[in-house]
Amino acid sequence: MENHKKLKIEASILNADYLNLGDEIKKAICAGVDFIHLDIMDGNFVPEITFGQSMIKHIKRHSDIPIHAHLMIKNTDEQLQSYIKTGADLIIIHAESCRQIYRCLQLIKNSGIKAGLALNPATPISYIENILDLLDYILIMTVEPGFGGQLFIESMLFKIKNAIDIIKQYSKQAGKIISCDIGVDGGINEQTIKKVVAAGANIIILGTALYNSNEPAKLVSYIRKTAETRLIV
Ligand code: DX5
Ligand code: ZN
Repeated sequence: MENHKKLKIEASILNADYLNLGDEIKKAICAGVDFIHLDIMDGNFVPEITFGQSMIKHIKRHSDIPIHAHLMIKNTDEQLQSYIKTGADLIIIHAESCRQIYRCLQLIKNSGIKAGLALNPATPISYIENILDLLDYILIMTVEPGFGGQLFIESMLFKIKNAIDIIKQYSKQAGKIISCDIGVDGGINEQTIKKVVAAGANIIILGTALYNSNEPAKLVSYIRKTAETRLIV
């Protein structure tokens, strides 16, 4: 079952030029992306450290498109409140670094912010089964988190399809439409876009592909066109 939602594109700045971050963010916005994706990495949950709460606040002030904060941090339960205060438009927590997932998602929602759950490649998609009412966004990691520029893990295509089936099943049982976005993160580019959209993803994160491109606007419009043709089935 395809996901007929319009494709949305997030620019991950993980591999951008941090000494020219303002220009790098402007470049992504001019290229036509829908969101800025900030990879918060604490050097514990993932090996490297990037940036934290204050960076989100600064970028939020200067960006006229929504900010998605992808929390790759060890102690989500303890740190979440401080990320809620940053003004991020959507906060994605990792199932693997959160003791009370339901409570943390509730905290995000009750703060008027969209809530997402990220699943590492080996984490079963069944994690979403009982919490779909709280989820605006399921982020299926298509690489192990922590680095940009990795190779896309093909078997995650089954996981995307399973997510669509679970949402469909739950909607039927609950007698209501669950319109949760399905995002994919890691190794997304001109080659892998067709597969992930055909499998049912409707949000993609572009990091290395975008910042390594000499014509980012051309890349973004190619990606959109490819997605649109894939959805005409
Ligand atoms: C990896 C991050 C991704 C990454 C994007 O842990 O969550 O957002 O920056 O990956 P690439 O560079 O493959 O698009
Ligand atoms: Zn990310």
